[in-house]
Amino acid sequence: MTVTPTKADRFSFGLWTVGYTGNDPFGGPTRPALDVVHVVEKLNELGAYGLTFHDDDLFAFGSTEAERQKQIDRLKQALADTGLIVPMVTTNLFSAPVFKDGGFTSNDRQVRRFALRKVIRQLELGVELGAKTFVMWGGREGAEYDSAKDIQAALERYREAVNLLAQYVTDKGYDIKFAIEPKPNEPRGDILLPTVGHALAFIDSLEKPELFGLNPEVGHETMAGLNFAAGIAQALYHGKLFHIDLNGQRSIKYDQDLVFGHGDLHNAFALVDLLEHGGPAGGPAYEGPRHFDYKPSRTEDEDGIWESAKANMANYLLLKERADAFRADPEVQEALEAAKVAELSVPTLGEGESYEQLLADTSAYEEFDADAYFGGKGFGFVRLQQLATEHLMGAR
Ligand code: GCO
Ligand code: MN
Ligand code: MN
Repeated sequence: MTVTPTKADRFSFGLWTVGYTGNDPFGGPTRPALDVVHVVEKLNELGAYGLTFHDDDLFAFGSTEAERQKQIDRLKQALADTGLIVPMVTTNLFSAPVFKDGGFTSNDRQVRRFALRKVIRQLELGVELGAKTFVMWGGREGAEYDSAKDIQAALERYREAVNLLAQYVTDKGYDIKFAIEPKPNEPRGDILLPTVGHALAFIDSLEKPELFGLNPEVGHETMAGLNFAAGIAQALYHGKLFHIDLNGQRSIKYDQDLVFGHGDLHNAFALVDLLEHGGPAGGPAYEGPRHFDYKPSRTEDEDGIWESAKANMANYLLLKERADAFRADPEVQEALEAAKVAELSVPTLGEGESYEQLLADTSAYEEFDADAYFGGKGFGFVRLQQLATEHLMGAR
């Protein structure tokens, strides 16, 4: 069995992920910054196909035009030399002091106008580099104090901003879509559009909803106590899984950004199974980049950075192999059958059946033996989960 990634696996990494220098609220960096050209070369060597970045990852906030262009040219050369692509870009609207109360939803109107200009600038760069997805993570779009933020006005300003961006790409004829990344909190006490569900409802309210989807992150939904694989299933159901941030998170706590698979392994197994086999015909349900948004722990040196990058891809591929084995196992097929998993796809009413016919069907109610469900008619879900667990552990 091979766990060597190739470009066909479509693994991508944020420049800020392997580039994380280890600073946290309690301590500064524990290792030096990595140069973008080196990052592109290493990711290519390890089998990734893509690099993603915020504007400020490539050229520091406040860079001169010449400094900015120099970094863009260096990146372009490295991409040309390696064949790596930039499938997604995003804007940093959270690090600079000007964004301390957010970008699109800052109470300060001048800041909101500045944020829009910064985003359009990065959008232009993304299009130039061939990116097909523009991620919007509103990390500072939120509040700590209820009295300080008019949430309805903030949502209205969020809508105003993203409607403008949709109009902009439409007028320019750009082939790029937007993916909103929900997160419940951190760095703000509470962040707007905190979960997949909130973001889906927001997208529905936009002028061009077809241009907007989601970029859900494992850690973020887990921080809200939610089941990530289930959230992804709903995003797929609505046709809104435009991109994905894979990482690991162990329960409701700060955003850990662990390696994919180093958090809730059962859920990671379910997720890979869904992404790879959850399509209507049993094929892949998601064809986009498998993007890792993790942080190499600050205990690591540069060797540890690349080991952790490799671990993300290896874990994905191992889980894919395990999910294939799970699906192919006749005992699993039989347990799925016994658990009536496929029966859920059968409509509850017969074709063309009306409620009158349902009401007239005595087998549905009058003759139906509901008591048989006491002490009988178990579903066998636990057996199925144990089979999944045994496949996950390589015991089958
Ligand atoms: C976080 C977020 C970010 C975003 C990134 C892309 O919690 O810090 O996950 O890493 O994914 O800003 O927009
Ligand atoms: Mn995160
Ligand atoms: Mn993320």
